[in-house]
Amino acid sequence: MVRILQGGPVAEAIRTHVGRKVKQLQQQHGVTPGLAAILVGDNPASSVYVRNKERACRQAGILTETFHMPASTSQGELLQVVARLNDDLRFHGILVQLPLPPHLEEATVINAVHPSKDIDGLHPINMGRLAKGEPAFVPCTPAGVQQLLLWYGYSLEGKHVVICGRSNIVGKPLALLLLQKAPGANATVTVCHTGTVDLAGVTRQADILVVAAGRPNTITGEMVQEPTVVIDVGINRVPDTASERGYRLTGDVDFDSVAPKVQAISPVPGGVGPMTIAMLLFNTLKAACHTVGAPCSLPPLPKGDP
Ligand code: GUN
Repeated sequence: MVRILQGGPVAEAIRTHVGRKVKQLQQQHGVTPGLAAILVGDNPASSVYVRNKERACRQAGILTETFHMPASTSQGELLQVVARLNDDLRFHGILVQLPLPPHLEEATVINAVHPSKDIDGLHPINMGRLAKGEPAFVPCTPAGVQQLLLWYGYSLEGKHVVICGRSNIVGKPLALLLLQKAPGANATVTVCHTGTVDLAGVTRQADILVVAAGRPNTITGEMVQEPTVVIDVGINRVPDTASERGYRLTGDVDFDSVAPKVQAISPVPGGVGPMTIAMLLFNTLKAACHTVGAPCSLPPLPKGDP
């Protein structure tokens, strides 16, 4: 029987832990962690993410403000807002919601966020630190994938992790994270992408298969083998006339053909999604802790084998 790796309970435990640490930081240091989110334009999925992030911040006692700018915002205007937030002591973290409208240069904007406030871990300094195994902000989705696996008792030590997708936001940083010679990592990592020859031949060899390809049905039943644990990072809106909203959310994995063939799988929605937000709260707390030299760690993992 396949095991469904729900992100909700894990995310909840992390958020509760963050909430407690936020109170401690306020009592002991008089500091309230703050997160500034910048949303440019009206991408519906981005608006939903930002609203969810706001709600989660408030529940954890983190100060949050969203700077919603019109789609016509110029690069210069956006950089000015980032510069102002870099200097604003109320905010320990700055999140620039991606994707940006096409006329804006994502890399330039990300590089403008001060690395000490880069709670998304996307600045080249943080990515470089992660690559070198130095302390860094780890991008939220990769950190969430790692925590989800560890929480359900799946060690990564010595495992063959196959990652489908090489994005800067998931695939690449996840590969760097799981390669670390550190507890909770030390995996053998293979990264597949659109140029991979015989994708199924590689995915069938995975102990753990993480799919972040940005395309529904990237992985189907004949591409997996029984002992594999599958983590589906994809969130795709596919048209669905039976749904009131006119669409439904689906991952990158064909759940119906893959689930019966594997040991465990994370669902979409409700798998990695809640983890990303929990890790964003944790990174914001961490940024605030850094400013006063306070220690900051994740909650201990539950005991026991899968
Ligand atoms: N868009 C989709 N996921 C993310 C994320 O984790 N961070 C940011 N900034 N934008 C996103």
